Amino acid sequence: NHNVLELHDCLLQICKLLEANVPHYNWVGFYFKNGDKDELKLGPYVGQPTDHTIIPFGKGICGQVAVSNKNFVVPDVSAQNNYIACSITVKAEIVIPIFVNGENIGQIDIDSNTLDPFTEEDERFLEYVCSLVSKMLS
Ligand code: SME
Repeated sequence: NHNVLELHDCLLQICKLLEANVPHYNWVGFYFKNGDKDELKLGPYVGQPTDHTIIPFGKGICGQVAVSNKNFVVPDVSAQNNYIACSITVKAEIVIPIFVNGENIGQIDIDSNTLDPFTEEDERFLEYVCSLVSKMLS
């Protein structure tokens, strides 16, 4: 029975910390499953506003992670055909799913203006961040 405003603020602080402290994290945000619909809804984020506040399951990198339940590391977004462009400055993207009680309830999405910047260290680190968010939400 969490306070929704406190949760939103906490997630926003996580976005701010990540964007401010990791030079290759240039847009950091959360998407969550939108109720019982097969779509994602944009949550707290830091960076340029995006038109893509709703993303159907299967569409773009985020929508693919909603159905695959797997990390998606994109070293070069221009090489992806199922990709939703939010900004022309973005060169790479990483999406890590968030599981609560084994269910994929959302994800952290990070865009980079650098080509091929994400390592396994980013994946392990962001999986850890997602596990903390999962604890917050459960
Ligand atoms: N590029 C994402 C859409 C979300 S924006 O990066 C904020 C995608 O292809 O799903």
